[in-house]
Amino acid sequence: GLLSPGAKPLAGKRALVTAGPTHEPIDPVRYIANRSSGKQGFAIAAALAAQGADVTLVAGPVNLPTPAGVKRVDVETAREMAGAIDAALPADVAVMVAAVADWRTADAATAKMKKGAGGPPALALVENPDILATVSAAGARRPKLVIGFAAETDSIVDHANTKLAKKGCDWIVANDVSGEVMGGDANRIHLITASGVEDWPELPKGEVAAKLAARIAEALG
Ligand code: CTP
Ligand code: CA
Repeated sequence: GLLSPGAKPLAGKRALVTAGPTHEPIDPVRYIANRSSGKQGFAIAAALAAQGADVTLVAGPVNLPTPAGVKRVDVETAREMAGAIDAALPADVAVMVAAVADWRTADAATAKMKKGAGGPPALALVENPDILATVSAAGARRPKLVIGFAAETDSIVDHANTKLAKKGCDWIVANDVSGEVMGGDANRIHLITASGVEDWPELPKGEVAAKLAARIAEALG
């Protein structure tokens, strides 16, 4: 309730979060993936729920427990993730933390591929749908606040600004992955918004999540 002591700032708000990698099948036993643990996305879903939001977490294949109070939808591929997000709209805020595979095989084999005299197979790849760009361009169904993540190793703020413009989202949480942070428990963040860049110190993923949830609560009023 309004101004009641202990009121949760995101009560009554709907949040969508994507997290983890996606797996794109090559054949029934092989896939294309990437090094995402899902930890930061799960921490953000937990932090939003702790602030009272109604959270749907669309998770790629990860080995993590579902945060308290969060509705979790498990998916494998980028196309499944896109479908789950579409089904979960509308929302007040979307935070796209997943490391979505940029490409999938044009045609996954239905039987296990075998080694043979022909040498290694050539994999034809096609680009996956861009979930963040799609949600950012969703017109009347667009969440008021759309937030993307960008893991960058160099020219972090430049790349993040380019991404902000390309995707049409409101904020980019740029994650400096020049050190050994992939799969680790801390992140160094630059928050890019229309009003500029905020440099955060290196923080545990839970604290990054809490700080971001507080900024989201402020922005949604
Ligand atoms: N993203 C998405 N769908 C995709 C690719 C990316 O929703 N198919 C989202 C990610 O969840 C993240 C943001 O877009 O929030 C940026 O992802 P990133 O991989 O850094 O951007 P790309 O446009 O794929 O650029 P790059 O070539 O640097 O990988
Ligand atoms: Ca990418």
